[in-house]
Amino acid sequence: MTTWGSPNTILLCLPGALLGRVPLLPSKQSPSLFPLFSSISRVGKKQVCQFDVIPILVHLLKDPAEHVKSNAAGALMFAMVITEGKYAALEVEAISLLLELLHSPMTVARLNATKALTMLAEAPEGRRVLQAHVPTFRAMEVEPHEKSHMAEALQRAARIAVSVIEFKP
Ligand SMILES: *[C@@H]1O[C@H](CO)[C@@H](O)[C@H](O)[C@H]1NC(C)=O
Repeated sequence: MTTWGSPNTILLCLPGALLGRVPLLPSKQSPSLFPLFSSISRVGKKQVCQFDVIPILVHLLKDPAEHVKSNAAGALMFAMVITEGKYAALEVEAISLLLELLHSPMTVARLNATKALTMLAEAPEGRRVLQAHVPTFRAMEVEPHEKSHMAEALQRAARIAVSVIEFKP
């Protein structure tokens, strides 16, 4: 099965410092999230288990800023390498928000959402939900007009997504 995380990236807990990274900070439009983040940084003196992080990252997928959503999808990829992470994300309805991100004007956001959804498709429950969305990924597989590295990466990621979603165990 295809995953984007190498076995070396399997982390049970994320260092709290990771959450303080600027790209993960919510945009100005969502100041309500700041208290949440500062309390996490305090807890982060030890470590924050990824299962606590997942609902926060999924919440960030609702942020109005495309780069925040994109970064949240990118961070989710690491948290969803292990099965428990995938189920924690499925529980908080990550799939519908990630599917919305597939329509982002930002190519990298569509790429990160595609990769995150592919990881969810590795869980049978996720795969079942995503089966109805194969046409969306198929549409992304077609030749990009724009011959950029990013557009080609997206095309490739969409192809992998379809193969994982259509995987018959
Ligand atoms: C996309 O995901 C990668 C890998 O997780 C991450 O490093 C990157 O910051 C994300 N890119 C954007 C623009 O959100």
